Amino acid sequence: MLSLHWWGLPTALLVLLCCPGFSEDAFQVNMWPEQLVVEPSGSLEVNCSTNCVRPDLGGLETPLPKVLLARQPQWQLYLISNISEDTALYCYFTCAGKQLSKGANVSVYHPPKLVMLKLQPTWVAMGRPFTMECRVPAVAPLESLTLTLLRGRDPLHNQTFGRATSAPQEATATLSITAGREDSHHNFSCQAELDLRAQGGGILRSFSEPQVLQVYALASEEDRCLPGPSGLAETAQGLPGTAGMSSGAPATSGPQGA
Ligand SMILES: *[C@@H]1O[C@H](CO)[C@@H](O)[C@H](O)[C@H]1NC(C)=O
Ligand SMILES: *[C@@H]1O[C@H](CO)[C@@H](O)[C@H](O)[C@H]1NC(C)=O
Ligand SMILES: *[C@@H]1O[C@H](CO)[C@@H](O)[C@H](O)[C@H]1NC(C)=O
Ligand SMILES: *[C@@H]1O[C@H](CO)[C@@H](O)[C@H](O)[C@H]1NC(C)=O
Ligand SMILES: *[C@@H]1O[C@H](CO)[C@@H](O)[C@H](O)[C@H]1NC(C)=O
Repeated sequence: MLSLHWWGLPTALLVLLCCPGFSEDAFQVNMWPEQLVVEPSGSLEVNCSTNCVRPDLGGLETPLPKVLLARQPQWQLYLISNISEDTALYCYFTCAGKQLSKGANVSVYHPPKLVMLKLQPTWVAMGRPFTMECRVPAVAPLESLTLTLLRGRDPLHNQTFGRATSAPQEATATLSITAGREDSHHNFSCQAELDLRAQGGGILRSFSEPQVLQVYALASEEDRCLPGPSGLAETAQGLPGTAGMSSGAPATSGPQGA
């Protein structure tokens, strides 16, 4: 409404010539959806619309392949395809000689398809440290990812990531913990969560295969102070020389071959 007067003389002619559709509402261009997330090589529908009743021109600007699926004077529905990287789209309309456009960013995401957890070592003495290492190859965007290391259902550690390039990258989280007696009764696992709500998407979660830790008790101080060698040493002592020790099994069977 303000603009009609403000434009002044240069546009007076245009205003006179046209515009039953140029109502009191300010001319607007809209794009739906406003935020777009898509998997690589994905496609999506975009609706460009305007409140201008009789726009002169309209369209969607994108370097990607697009197909006009349907149109009415006030909107155009497009299918864009083969989206391989983050990109921007612009809807535009011209109304009464004035052009407006509206942009939206398209984010390409790579879901956490594979989540791998490694315990090191998998066989550990009680009270000794072990590490959990979780790896997720080729995931993006990293700033939307959280890796959670779990003991049973308890989260032990959350790992988040800073802003990175939009190209998919490997994400890792490691944690060093001390083995307790109860650890051998738990399955350890890793959860990868990609939260795309800020980009207009949903939440995607994947889990690793569960890994079990074997915890053994160290011989107590008392045992070590007893006179004489431990059970293992005794066995070794009884064997002649060192031959046969590598097998670990008593050499009771008869001679085999040469
Ligand atoms: C496109 O958007 C306009 C404005 O919101 C709406 O009236 C129209 O029905 C939409 N077209 C399609 C095919 O969804
Ligand atoms: C799809 O995108 C890739 C990479 O941007 C390009 O090499 C390929 O030619 C495109 N395919 C089509 C059908 O447009
Ligand atoms: C698209 O992303 C760029 C860079 O992140 C940002 O400056 C711009 O405001 C975004 N545009 C829209 C329409 O969200
Ligand atoms: C990790 O995040 C989850 C969910 O946001 C929360 O419940 C949990 O307490 C966090 N754990 C740690 C160790 O920070
Ligand atoms: C650990 O995982 C294995 C295989 O998935 C399952 O059979 C076992 O019951 C689980 N143990 C616990 C304590 O959750």
